[in-house]
Amino acid sequence: MLQGGVETRVELADFEDWKTAVAAAVKELRAGEVVALPTETVYGLAADAFNAEAVAKVFEVKERPSFDPLIVHVARVRDLERVAVVSEELRPLVKKLTGEFWPGPLTLVLPKTDKVPDIVTSGLPTVGVRLSAHEVMRGVAKELGNPIAAPSANRFGRISPTSVSAVMSELGGRIPLVVDGGACGDGLESTIIALEMDGDKPVMRLLRPGPVTREDLRKFGRVVKAKRVTGTVEAPGTMESHYAPETPMFLFEKPEEFVPEEGKKYGLLSFRDEEKDGYVGKHDWAQVEVLSPGGGKMSEAAVRFFFLLRKLDEAGLDAIVAEPVSKARLGEAIMDRLQRAAFRGED
Ligand code: TXA
Ligand code: MG
Repeated sequence: MLQGGVETRVELADFEDWKTAVAAAVKELRAGEVVALPTETVYGLAADAFNAEAVAKVFEVKERPSFDPLIVHVARVRDLERVAVVSEELRPLVKKLTGEFWPGPLTLVLPKTDKVPDIVTSGLPTVGVRLSAHEVMRGVAKELGNPIAAPSANRFGRISPTSVSAVMSELGGRIPLVVDGGACGDGLESTIIALEMDGDKPVMRLLRPGPVTREDLRKFGRVVKAKRVTGTVEAPGTMESHYAPETPMFLFEKPEEFVPEEGKKYGLLSFRDEEKDGYVGKHDWAQVEVLSPGGGKMSEAAVRFFFLLRKLDEAGLDAIVAEPVSKARLGEAIMDRLQRAAFRGED
């Protein structure tokens, strides 16, 4: 294992100077190394997407199973076609979506080009591509001259990192460099859609809900559900247990379903710290963390979500209880993460 073997440097990228950090990252990537980079969603663990050996390191460092494909980050809209094949039928939709949402938190799954090594896509004929809105990720892809393969910078199945301290607790000692771009502005991983033809009509198959919402996408065409395929990663959402804290986590439909066990320490992940939601006053919680102290704003909840989940996980509790949130708009992405974090394999 690589664990503990490497000294992990942190390079700061701030408003005044992020180019030094970009240059440091490019140097490592050119040498076939992997580095953690900030994006607007979560931190990514980056490798040169055209260097299969470097990409293999991503899987090794993350302890990620080889069947789970990586997302490829490009530097500009026109670089999409270096990695993905856009058919004439899908071209108008791709143009509209990239025009509206790129750079930004939307990943498009399309057939891959031959340039993309099979290891990146886990042997799938398709590739997930996005253009990050973060100047560091984009700057690194531009400087390197190649697209960047980057999954979230956490060990497999664990909580995604939205700050450098979270990256360090996941991968410190395993990678040579982390670029510190501060806290991630969106806080949840990108929305993933597969673009396909249904007869003669293009459709968007929602594989993972995220900051670009179903409602946002509907303005551009039909949004259909991901198929549930057991034992494969046809859709990333089929990996039931994900984003999981080590502390057992429960998500109830109603507060009455929570029956505390004698002598156990429970923490609450509250949506807006509101008595009338039924959870805050229900128990003498050992710790309460509030997703949106600003009175229930979904975007605030999204930004704080992984940070607070990690905080509760590290608090030495016996269990975490999470309040459900509305599934409308950005709430769908938060509920998706909560449901998968709370999954305990009893399906
Ligand atoms: O916001 C994000 O997307 C972040 C930042 C770093 O860009 N990345 C991220 O990567 O969340 P990761 O690996 O944690 O999640 C990527 C998901 C995986 O669950 C994978 O199964 C899915 O994308 N994926 C990648 N390529 C795919 C493909 N060709 N078909 C279906 N799913 C794919
Ligand atoms: Mg991930």
